[in-house]
Amino acid sequence: MNYQNILITQEGAIATITINRPAKLNALNKATIEELHQAFKFADEDKSIRVIILTGSETKAFVAGADISEFADFDSKKGGELAQKGQDILFDFVENLSKPVIAAINGFALGGGLELAMSAHFRAASINAKMGLPEVSLGVIPGYGGTQRLPKLIGKGKAMEMIMTAGMLTAEEALNYKLVNYVVEQEELLPFCAKLAAKITNNSSTAIASAIKAVNAGFNNEVNGFETEIQEFGNCFGTADFKEGTTAFLEKRKPNF
Ligand code: COA
Repeated sequence: MNYQNILITQEGAIATITINRPAKLNALNKATIEELHQAFKFADEDKSIRVIILTGSETKAFVAGADISEFADFDSKKGGELAQKGQDILFDFVENLSKPVIAAINGFALGGGLELAMSAHFRAASINAKMGLPEVSLGVIPGYGGTQRLPKLIGKGKAMEMIMTAGMLTAEEALNYKLVNYVVEQEELLPFCAKLAAKITNNSSTAIASAIKAVNAGFNNEVNGFETEIQEFGNCFGTADFKEGTTAFLEKRKPNF
């Protein structure tokens, strides 16, 4: 597919998806959301890709939010539809992808930008990154899962404060609240995430896909996470990776997944 708003590169088994609207601080307009959906779908289906890094172009922004110019004249119905579609095709889609997604937060991650980073499986930030959910300053609330994922990641009280004040966390503050796992220098961010991704690629993709399902199940009120874990644990025993992993261990060699 020919993308206008994103770039995709691949090195070995690691794909990097870069949101590329720097003049608008990589704000998520409808077209970008659609392209991201297609890119994640493609990456999930492409067997040569095992880990995905998501970042923003240039050094100022990861994503400065949903594109405000696109929804400023929406009514309640259109607003609801915007949130529903975005959650379905991008935010929930990324969270439930079978391959690990690492958000490399290289600058402002505001509103939909922070919501997108929170949909990734984990996050690293550059020292200049700023994170917040400023929606109430616009008379609206986070609509791409922010009211749900932020309290789960940092606790209800701090999430309430961030949402109500519309304030921004520095990268160091975000690290203290466990919103991001690491903070590194700007130029180190992508190499650092690539190293993390490379570690992941040594492991079984099928087991990782099962782990994503089991962990996510624990945050889904409609299913029992322990039951999902049992199911996925059992499923692993039927995979070629399980045979290879256990055989390699017993033969005292590295597995070849
Ligand atoms: N939607 C649409 N356009 C956006 C945007 C967004 N969420 N965030 C930034 N932009 C655009 C600006 O309109 C500006 O475009 P222009 O040059 O055509 O006027 C361009 O990106 C640069 O942004 P600017 O505001 O001039 O940069 P800044 O350094 O002064 O401020 C921010 C940076 C991030 C503080 C500021 O852009 C901002 O507050 N953005 C909106 C954040 C937000 O509320 N997000 C939640 C949306 S629900």
